Amino acid sequence: MTARRLDGDKIVVATHNKGKLAEIRDLLAPWRIEAVSAGELELPEPEETGETFEANAALKALAAATASGLPALADDSGLCVAALGGQPGIYSARWAGEDKDFARAMRNVEEQLGQSGSDDRRAHFVAALCLAWPDGHTETVRGEVHGTLVWPPRGDLGFGYDPMFLPEGENRTFGEMTAEEKHGLRPGETGLSHRARAFSAFAARCL
Ligand code: IMP
Repeated sequence: MTARRLDGDKIVVATHNKGKLAEIRDLLAPWRIEAVSAGELELPEPEETGETFEANAALKALAAATASGLPALADDSGLCVAALGGQPGIYSARWAGEDKDFARAMRNVEEQLGQSGSDDRRAHFVAALCLAWPDGHTETVRGEVHGTLVWPPRGDLGFGYDPMFLPEGENRTFGEMTAEEKHGLRPGETGLSHRARAFSAFAARCL
C-alpha cells in the first residue's frame, strides 16, 4: 500500500512537552511546515494506554487530529534494556516518577541490572512517530539506536537516560554529545538518535 503524504503546510504536534515541540519544530523547519502544539491549542492529553510505542504514538496523534481537524504528529519513545526483557520500554518516563528524577531512574536501571545476574549491558532507544489525519488514517514509522549502558553515568548534556547510554561505535555517551551530534541537525546529516532516524523515515514516507 502506498503511504499518504502530507498535502498542507500546517500540522499539530501532539505534545504538551516544550522540549519535544522545539525538537520536532527544528526537524520540520527545512520542509517549511508550520507546527502548532496540542498544548498551545489546549487539546486534552489522552492517557497512554497502548502496549507498544507505535500504539501510544497513534493514540496521541489520532486524539489531536480529531480534536483539531488538522493532521497531527506524535512521538513515543523510550529505552529498552535487553537483560530486563525490554524494560523500562514504554514506561521509561514513568520510571522517573512524578518529579521526573532521571538520576533515580538511571540508578533503578543499574540496580535491576545488578539483580538480574546478567552481564549483558545491551540496550536500545526506540522512537515511534505517527502522523494521523482527522479521517482516521495513520502513517507510523520507527527509529532505533543500539548501544550499551555504562555506570556511572557520564555527561550532563541531553536528557533522560542519555548519560548512561553509549551508542555502538562511539566512545562518548549521549550525555556527552551536543544536540547537533546526537540528532544530526545539520543539512544532509541523518543523525545518530532514534528520533532523528524515525524522522528521516517519516520524511521519506510522508513529506
Ligand atoms: P514519552 O514522552 O512517553 O515518549 O517518554 C519518553 C521517555 O523516554 C523520556 O521521558 C525519557 O525518559 C526516555 N527517552 C526517550 N528518548 C530519549 C533520549 O533521546 N534520551 C534519553 N532519554 C530518552
